[in-house]
This record gives sequence, C-alpha cells and structure tokens, in this order.
Amino acid sequence: MKSKEKKTHWRGIHSPFFFDLARHLEGGGRYVDIAFDKTLVKAIDQIEALRQNLLRSSDYIEVHDCGAGSRVFKGKSRKVKKIARHVLQSKRVAFALLRVLIFWRSQGRRMKILEMGTSLGLTTAYLAASGWDVETWEGCQQTSNYARNNWKALGCDGQIKSKVGTFKSLMEESQGGWDVVFLDGHHDRDATLAYVECLKTQLNPGGAILIDDIGWSKGMKEAWAQLLKDPHWNATMTWRGKGWLFNRDGEIEQHLKLRKSYISLSKFNNMKLFTIVFAAITLLMSTQVQAQGTKEQMKTKSKAESSTATSGASKIFGEMLVFEINGKTVVKVSFDPIMGRMGSDKDALVASQQIANFKFTSMGQALNVLSSHGWMVEHVWTTLERSGAVQHFILSHEVAKLTPVSPWLSKSTTKGTKG
Ligand SMILES: C[S@@+](CC[C@H](N)C(=O)[O-])C[C@H]1O[C@@H](n2cnc3c(N)ncnc32)[C@H](O)[C@@H]1O
Repeated sequence: MKSKEKKTHWRGIHSPFFFDLARHLEGGGRYVDIAFDKTLVKAIDQIEALRQNLLRSSDYIEVHDCGAGSRVFKGKSRKVKKIARHVLQSKRVAFALLRVLIFWRSQGRRMKILEMGTSLGLTTAYLAASGWDVETWEGCQQTSNYARNNWKALGCDGQIKSKVGTFKSLMEESQGGWDVVFLDGHHDRDATLAYVECLKTQLNPGGAILIDDIGWSKGMKEAWAQLLKDPHWNATMTWRGKGWLFNRDGEIEQHLKLRKSYISLSKFNNMKLFTIVFAAITLLMSTQVQAQGTKEQMKTKSKAESSTATSGASKIFGEMLVFEINGKTVVKVSFDPIMGRMGSDKDALVASQQIANFKFTSMGQALNVLSSHGWMVEHVWTTLERSGAVQHFILSHEVAKLTPVSPWLSKSTTKGTKG
C-alpha cells in the first residue's frame, strides 16, 4: 500500500506550526529563532565533553533489560563506552530537540516533557538545558544510578525528575500532563502501540509524542503504519528514523516525511575519494564531448552553465568553490545568470542571490543552506592551486522544483516557474 506520507524539505512545509518545528529540527544556524547565550553554549559543551569521557570509559554496568533486547549487546554486563556509542541519541538529534523545546518555550507553550528511556542520561541533560520540566523513566536501577551521577557532574541534577521502573508500571501510576513524550526505549510493536494508546489520555491538548526507531524492525514499521491510520493523530511527521504524533485542533490532516537538510560531512568524507575519481572521469568525458561541440555552444562564458538534461527534468546549475586563505575557509557560490529570467517566483530569486552573496564560514554551513533550498551536489573534485587545495562543487536544481520561499505568506506565489 502506498504510504500517505509526503516527503518534504522544511522549506516546503505550508503549515506554519510544522514549518517552525521542521525549521528548528533541520534548519540550524541563522534559520532558527534562538538566542544561544553563554550558559546554553557552556551546557552543551559540558554534555559533549562528558560524552567524550563516556566513549573512553572503562566502566561496566550490569544491565537489567526491560525492553525489546539489543542487536549490539549479548550479555548483561555492558561496557559504558559501548552504550555511549550505540544506544544514546547523537549530538545532532539531541541538539535539534533542544532547539525545538527552546523555541516552543519562547512561544509560551506549556513545558513538561517525559523521556521514556534514560540510559546514561545525556539526552535528558539536553532536554533539561531547554528549561522545560523534565521527567525520565528507566527500567534498570544501575543505569539510572549512572545517569544520576552524570547529571551531578553536569550540575543539572536538580532540574531532572528521574524514576526507576518498567514503562508499564510507571505509566499506570502517572498523573500524566505531558506536553511532549519522547518514547526512546522498548522498540516492540505491541508495546509501542500500547504505550501510545495510554499516552493519548496523558498528553495535554496539542501535546506530541516522538517515537524513536520507527524503522528499526518489521514490528516497529508495522506499529508506525498502524499509528498513521489512527484518525486521532491528525498530523504526523517522520524525521531521522523517528516519528512525531500530534493531535492538533484546527490543523488540516497532514503526514509529512521530513528530509535531512544537508549532506552529512562524515558521509561526504567517505565519499570524497569516490567522487573525485568519478568527477575526473566525468570531466574527461565531457571535455571530449565539448571538443566536438558547435562553435555556438563554445561561446558560453559563464562559469556556471545551464542545460536541459536529455534524460529527464530540466535543471539549472551553479557552482561552489571552497578554499582556505590565512587559515580561514572561504566559500564562493555562484548560480547561472539565467536564474534572473526564470519566472514569477521573485522570492526564490532573492533567496538565491542572498545565498550567492552570503559569507559562509564553512563548507558544511553552505551545503546545509544550499540543500535546504533544494540544490543538489552533482559533482565534486579537488584541484591543487598555487594558493592551496580548492574544492569544486557542481550544484543543480530541478527547475520545476523551484519552490516559493515562504509559501503561506503570499497566495499569489505559485509553485515552479512560468517563464
Ligand atoms: C535507547 S536507550 C535511551 C537513550 C537515551 N534516551 C539517550 O538518548 O540518552 C533506552 C533505555 O530504555 C530502557 N528501557 C527499555 N525498555 C524499557 C521498559 N519497558 N521499561 C523501562 N525502561 C526500559 C533501557 O534500559 C535503556 O536504558
């Protein structure tokens, strides 16, 4: 059966509520409405320093597993460094959640979050840094003790209410009143469905459930498919292998699948060698094809060339150069000048001009912004110039997918282009 979920970038979301949620999850940088004061930055630095310590730790924990078992661990005695590597949410995810909570808090939303699955308590510490009331549940006493020591070391133990017991027993005795529940443990089909059913009565109006690992197993995929069918959850959004469930008054029914808004740098590094070789071959071939081209085609002076791919969609092209001057990264982005003649969506044009003029401080930042505007990296290669290495990126964007920048602001703005 075809999924009713619609894949989208955060920029393409029409509902302002979901646009804001997705923007804070995936936007980052200047796209989020958060003041990163010194206290917050320090808190994040301390949590990440602790993560590094845990990743090197020689401690063991005798784990009492109340969940769906593990694919990583065999016995009960588990290395802390292995738990830190395989079990905890990454910095990227925890930080994204923190941004959302801080944003919702600044909007005067209610602020009580439950984390089901404490583990070593690092994500809990992120949640606490948001200023929300945080409660966290853990089935294993030793693990919970370890987390409490971590919070003491971070100085956030006073902000966290921690309970030990099975999710089922704690849920039965809970008064509820949650605005957000992060279900990050016991990834089993029936258990997940049972928890969500019970949480329906424990959530505050408009509250949300975020379920981790909805694609972890066949059972979890079935659980998510079933939840999508439940009319109670009139708005859902999947994000990085997790699923958000909302029951929101006045929200039109929508089921979104949020795309990652950048190319992960680690993936990029892994692929670098491959792309350099691939780009070199492509370049060689294209040079030969160009040599046979007509004089007319050779007149093109622009660095970034536009073309229509013979096989499929029309694309527009751009170029990004990344190099270093005096230890500082310089990023130069340029788009084909044909952008200026491409139709009625002036917002998209202004956005691309802003990108071209913006002084990016890193390649990652630029890739993040470009991909969130729908630009894809077609080819990458590195040249060694006299001043040092220069990385070249050929960018492309499907013309039909040039979307309006703020779709809900102007009713007259149409998707795509007329020209
Ligand atoms: C994935 S870890 C949580 C990671 C944590 N949220 C983080 O990112 O830092 C899941 C935790 O939930 C606990 N857990 C799993 N099933 C449980 C259950 N039925 N009752 C109580 N705790 C459970 C496990 O012991 C484990 O520590």
